[in-house]
Amino acid sequence: MTQVGGVQALCLGLTLQLIVASILRQGAATVAPPLTGQTTAAPHKEPGKPVTGSYRLSGSNGTACLLASMGLQLNMTFSSVSQNKTVQDVVNLQPNVTRVSGSCGSDSAALLLTADAGKTNLSFHFTLNATSSKYHLSELTLSALWPDMKEAFSAGNSSLDYLRGTSGRSYKCNEEQTFYVTSNLSINTFQVQVQPFGLTGEQFGTAEECQLDEDDMLIPIIVGAALAGLVLIVLLAYLIGRKRSQAGYQTI
Ligand SMILES: *[C@@H]1O[C@H](CO)[C@@H](O)[C@H](O)[C@H]1NC(C)=O
Ligand SMILES: *[C@@H]1O[C@H](CO)[C@@H](O)[C@H](O)[C@H]1NC(C)=O
Ligand SMILES: *[C@@H]1O[C@H](CO)[C@@H](O)[C@H](O)[C@H]1NC(C)=O
Ligand SMILES: *[C@@H]1O[C@H](CO)[C@@H](O)[C@H](O)[C@H]1NC(C)=O
Repeated sequence: MTQVGGVQALCLGLTLQLIVASILRQGAATVAPPLTGQTTAAPHKEPGKPVTGSYRLSGSNGTACLLASMGLQLNMTFSSVSQNKTVQDVVNLQPNVTRVSGSCGSDSAALLLTADAGKTNLSFHFTLNATSSKYHLSELTLSALWPDMKEAFSAGNSSLDYLRGTSGRSYKCNEEQTFYVTSNLSINTFQVQVQPFGLTGEQFGTAEECQLDEDDMLIPIIVGAALAGLVLIVLLAYLIGRKRSQAGYQTI
């Protein structure tokens, strides 16, 4: 009986640890970002999560040829006039003051976002490999001219490989992602869904979820399995215990 009890306690301990760990992880994922935005005495005020913007480009026949829904945060390093030094600034792109333009081609598409009346220009270039029907974000460029900038900011990289998807389907990622562009610029994305190729209407095609989201969906499955395992172990321990005590009575 004590042996069974030991195994039982061990399994219970492990399971509880698993559950607590995953709850903590989920809590950290959902609670931490707003907290860091408010409480820490960081040199720069973090802007918090950006508002999700919806962007649409239409082809020559007027129907959608590129759809994108995402929250964007620019992380830039530039020379500040007011502070008279190089600073690093994190700014959210505000969808309500952002205009969209661009072009759709058979194997390339460009989405240009112009914010703050032309003071911030961000462009996304997507490339489609016709052989494999796979697309990806191949180029990002940002030019900005803000009042506090000593000179116009300009950064771009045309050898990127982000937002990988299949033509006719959309790429989706709810978790935050960081796209490294250059040493002066990275872009954080939140709740992304994009489809630059193969749209057949005004709706996104079937979503291909990113790995980060799939990992998140695994947590409830693991917790569920752990609980089921726990129930099974308790049940087994009970049955074995009962059998032993019955056997014990018989020998008397
Ligand atoms: C901005 O970029 C810097 C350096 O690349 C990094 O240390 C910092 O964590 C980034 N901040 C955010 C909010 O992404
Ligand atoms: C397109 O995909 C095919 C098959 O995966 C690959 O062999 C080819 O190198 C790719 N082309 C380009 C330009 O990346
Ligand atoms: C952004 O694009 C607009 C239109 O092409 C242009 O007039 C403006 O100067 C650009 N802004 C920057 C900061 O490059
Ligand atoms: C452009 O992006 C690639 C892939 O992330 C990286 O290896 C390269 O260093 C970047 N180029 C510049 C100029 O930062």
